[in-house]
Amino acid sequence: MNGFPAHVASVRDFASLLAYEFSGETNAVCWSRELSGDFAEIERALPPVDDITSLDRDDLIDLKLSAPGQLAREHLLGDLERLTGQGLQPSLDLIPSGPGPRNSGPVRTDVGDWHVDSANVPTDTYLCTYHGAPTEGIPHDDGVCRPDDPSSREMLLRAYGGRDDGGFEDYLAAHFYDLHYAEKSADRIFSFGPHHLWRIATRNPFCPVPPCIHRAPATTTAQPRRLLLIS
Ligand SMILES: [Fe+2]
Repeated sequence: MNGFPAHVASVRDFASLLAYEFSGETNAVCWSRELSGDFAEIERALPPVDDITSLDRDDLIDLKLSAPGQLAREHLLGDLERLTGQGLQPSLDLIPSGPGPRNSGPVRTDVGDWHVDSANVPTDTYLCTYHGAPTEGIPHDDGVCRPDDPSSREMLLRAYGGRDDGGFEDYLAAHFYDLHYAEKSADRIFSFGPHHLWRIATRNPFCPVPPCIHRAPATTTAQPRRLLLIS
């Protein structure tokens, strides 16, 4: 038992996170860890931002921090280095709190809505929330892809204004509606938690398991900004 739903595997180190092979229903693996240091101090030390802002190594190095803040910074730099060392391109993002951008289409297609990541190559998404509200997930069985959800499909078809044919399928993909999910059940929503480093399955032609449905949490302006590593 790792406190997460059955489709989540838990490992104890980075090498095991990299090596873990998804199979069956298991489409997420988590390097469970509790990091020492003061990540809140880092968030407070960073300047105000209007939009999601990617921080580079120098942005972190330039911060004047206490010893606990410096410890937290070491963890951030260490993770960036780890993932870069694997040929990945991690981004450490500072995400303003409060409602994020929403599209005006018939169904949401922003990261705060249930969705899966996709790729044309065999790749997974890595992520870690160091501070602020963590990412959320649901088991694949608890979501239904928007085009497969009858009421969503009807709304989308109305917005498309044409026939339910190949052109409509192209429209769904062009607007990313096929990557978003309606929630069938909220019973097993789980939090990715702070500090754990996750590897989750994406929708790609080589992936042997269903992709991991996840979303950015809804936050209010009273909550701290999020510090999120994503690759
Ligand atoms: Fe995502």
